[in-house]
Amino acid sequence: MTVFVGADETETARAAADVVEGVLRESPSAVLGLATGASVDGVYRELIAECGGDGTGLSFAGASAFLLDEYVGLDASHPQAYRNVIRAELIDRVDLADGAVRGPDAWAPDLDAAAAEYDEAVRVAGVDVQLLGIGRNGHIAFNEPGAAFDSRTRVVDLSETTRRDNARFFGSPDDVPRRAITQGIGTILAARRVVLVAHGKEKADAIAAAIDGPTTCDVPASALQLHTRVTWVLDPAAASRLA
Ligand code: GLP
Repeated sequence: MTVFVGADETETARAAADVVEGVLRESPSAVLGLATGASVDGVYRELIAECGGDGTGLSFAGASAFLLDEYVGLDASHPQAYRNVIRAELIDRVDLADGAVRGPDAWAPDLDAAAAEYDEAVRVAGVDVQLLGIGRNGHIAFNEPGAAFDSRTRVVDLSETTRRDNARFFGSPDDVPRRAITQGIGTILAARRVVLVAHGKEKADAIAAAIDGPTTCDVPASALQLHTRVTWVLDPAAASRLA
């Protein structure tokens, strides 16, 4: 694994974007794994800045992408539905075709079937580079503590910690959905490369447990120790409890 500690969010965003950009320049038809959340906002801003312009710019035209997860129970037009978040933050601002980005279908009549079908689509496509954030409780995507390392895409209950943390994106804590469809840890580990971005002291314990601690399903991100190509991109506060 590689651990990069950047001085600030500009440096971390640049470092994570560099990995994605490298993959895309080498393989214009790359399959990207996209995360949502504050940790990766800056990465998307960097990628947007690199895109277009004078013809030497980065192009997403041949790429496709899969989202990590989606809330269950929101209206499809809700601005916090992850499909709408990623459209506003990335898809509409680069030359990535809308139809080239898929997310779990949290509006399907049969959610379990939709999750299984999505998992198979991700597996068949094969993700070249997966962007990740991390929850304060060590979750990746919506794999909460206790999730099995070989878990696949499925419907999950969100922990109270996660619902509280994500309340900042909603009008009131009660508006945060209680369930989601998430790629499993096993699904995520199949990506060829992983880049995890974390900022702030509230992530420091989760980062230390994930990198220095034992691999345990109590800390879902510790599963990344089992992956051969992970880059951890941290700011000094998130790295502050690392051995
Ligand atoms: C959310 C998402 C995760 C994200 C994490 C951290 O619940 N499902 O994919 O990585 O929480 O979010 P943030 O980057 O906003 O701190």
